[in-house]
Amino acid sequence: MSFHIAVLISGRGSNLEALFHASTRPDSAFKISLVLSDKSSAGGLQFAEQNSIPTLVVPRKPKEQNSQTFNQALCDALLPYKPNLVVLAGFMRVIDANFIHTFNGHVINIHPSLLPLYRGLDAQAQALDAGAKESGCTVHYVTEEIDAGPIVAQAVVPILAGDTAEVLSSRILKFEHQLLPAVVNAIARGDIALVRTESGSRIVINKVLDNFKLEGGRLIRSA
Ligand code: GRF
Repeated sequence: MSFHIAVLISGRGSNLEALFHASTRPDSAFKISLVLSDKSSAGGLQFAEQNSIPTLVVPRKPKEQNSQTFNQALCDALLPYKPNLVVLAGFMRVIDANFIHTFNGHVINIHPSLLPLYRGLDAQAQALDAGAKESGCTVHYVTEEIDAGPIVAQAVVPILAGDTAEVLSSRILKFEHQLLPAVVNAIARGDIALVRTESGSRIVINKVLDNFKLEGGRLIRSA
C-alpha cells in the first residue's frame, strides 16, 4: 500500500487506535508508518509498540526550546518517513507555518467540537458552558491559526440534560473514532483532495462519504 500516514499524539491515543484498526481492514486505503509523540509517557506509544508501528519521541523542553526550533525538530524526525499525510490526533503542541509548508499542507487535525465553535482547549466544557444543545467533532486541514483551518467533515452529537464534560467527551469520542478513519481513507482514495490555487489551497470533495451530506463545501453527519 502506497498511502501512509504519520500520527502525532500527546496522550492516550484512542483516535490512534481507531486509525490503526481501520488500517488493518481489507478495504483500507492507508497504513500507519509512524507514531510520533512529544511525550514519552503518552499511552498511545505503548499501543503503537504492541502493534509493531514505529514510534518516535520528540520532546519539547519548556524554556530550552522555542516553538520554531521544536517544529523544525518535528520536521527533521518526520521527513525520512515521507508521510503522505500527517494526522494530529490529540497532539497538544502548536504546529507552525514551516511545518505545514514542509508537508505541502497535508496535515489534518481532529477537534472535539463543531468548529468554528469552541476552538482551543476544553471544547466539550465550552459547549456545555454555552448551553449548547449539540456539539460534535471536526476534521480540518491545519493552518497556522489554531483550530481554524478548512473544515473537511463534521459529526453532530446531541448534548443531553445532565451531561458533564466527561460524559459529553466520551459521546463525542465515539464519533471521532468513526470520523477520523473515514476521512483518512477518503483522502487516501482521492475522494477528498487538497487542491492548490493561486491564493493558497482549497478542499475538493469528489465523493460524499456514506451517511454524510455535503453542506457548504464540507461533509456533515447529522445526529
Ligand atoms: C480527542 O478528543 C481529540 O479530538 C482532541 O484530543 C483528544 C485526543 O484523544 N484533539 P485521544 O488521545 O485520541 O484518545
